[in-house]
Amino acid sequence: MYLSGNHKRGKWLRVDSARILKRLFFCERALIIAQAGWLPSIASFEAKTTLPRLLWEDSLIADQLRERIFELKFPSRILEIGDDAPLIDVFEAALDAPGPEAFLWSLARVFKPALRDIYLAFGDEADELSQGPIRRHIRIAAAEKAAQAAWLDDAAEAMFAEAPQRREEAERWTEALADWLQATGGVSFDAPAAADPPALPGRQPFRQTDIPARDPQFHLTRYYWPDIVDSSFGYGEGIRMQLRSAVSHVNEVWAVETAGAILHAFADELGWEYIRDTARWTYDEARHTRMGFQRLRDWGFDVSDIPLGSYLYESTGGQDPAMRLGMLHHFEAKNIGKKAQRRDAFETYQDRASQRDMDFDWADETMHAHYGKVWLQALAQKHPDRIPDIPALRMRCEALVLREIEDATDSEKEDIRALAETMITKAESLLHA
Ligand SMILES: [Fe+2]
Ligand SMILES: [Fe+2]
Repeated sequence: MYLSGNHKRGKWLRVDSARILKRLFFCERALIIAQAGWLPSIASFEAKTTLPRLLWEDSLIADQLRERIFELKFPSRILEIGDDAPLIDVFEAALDAPGPEAFLWSLARVFKPALRDIYLAFGDEADELSQGPIRRHIRIAAAEKAAQAAWLDDAAEAMFAEAPQRREEAERWTEALADWLQATGGVSFDAPAAADPPALPGRQPFRQTDIPARDPQFHLTRYYWPDIVDSSFGYGEGIRMQLRSAVSHVNEVWAVETAGAILHAFADELGWEYIRDTARWTYDEARHTRMGFQRLRDWGFDVSDIPLGSYLYESTGGQDPAMRLGMLHHFEAKNIGKKAQRRDAFETYQDRASQRDMDFDWADETMHAHYGKVWLQALAQKHPDRIPDIPALRMRCEALVLREIEDATDSEKEDIRALAETMITKAESLLHA
């Protein structure tokens, strides 16, 4: 006779627990990649600049899951989808949504709630003594997934309000995914059941867009300030610099799209650390975009006053996706020195908001410069025939941008000059208001 060990907390052994966490890691990973890939195709400014926070949150929990799996399975560092494939196939199918509405709706109604529920259940089941190190993160993730699902629901509803004809397609897509998920047994503590992939209505094998979708509430243009296409205009000082800098920040929307596109493009090839870095990169660029937007709104500009350009994202259209990574790195390396100068200038203007935004932005950029270097080198090492070293790549990027700038028509130049003059005049009138 022995003392009984059948206590409630005896449910999972170390490997059982690692198996569950591994399943959740791959679910998160699939959604991170899909959310990143979709960013260039989402028009709504609100959605384009909020989804990056969601995928960054997802990357944090995924990273904690992964680390915990390695601790539990020490010394093994093998992480494979294995018998979770029927479930992960469903999560990976999210990427092939027929449109942005369907994509967000499937996240809101199927994927995020499924993760929320399993995290809640795990948090309840897991005992602190053996699972404490991951239980804390799981509980945070459960709360985040609940908030994400609620936000996504609202974001999708806002998109349906703009395009009611897209609702049916989104609902059919989401329903089919929900059925498929259910056929596998859903996200659970047990291994999924094999389920034949159904014919998903409207499925579009994902292909990255070369033309970014943009929010029509803004003043849409290719070049977002006259100095880009007219060297006589100048970056400016005083009010002009305050405006130019805020407009530059809003126009980091191309960096959000680019960071998302490269996360998706090289996720399989460059592995988890790359996904984790680019998730943060994407989120940071969304924050920078919102910084400029917030300053302009706080000064009294309407959304329709604000130019949103597309030439930087479009300059890498039709190229190897490595050029997108190169372009992001090129612009960051080129501009980082100017940020500290401008921050100091804003201090002398007593423009605390611009000063502060630039100061925080600078700190992010020093990190991004490192990301760019590390991951471009990793890519070049894998494909020495296709991807040149960083100096050569940056020269190619410069040539691509120049080509895009030289393509500007007279009417585009006039349009952006008129828009900038209107903003400057408005800024002057706000000064005296
Ligand atoms: Fe940035
Ligand atoms: Fe950056």
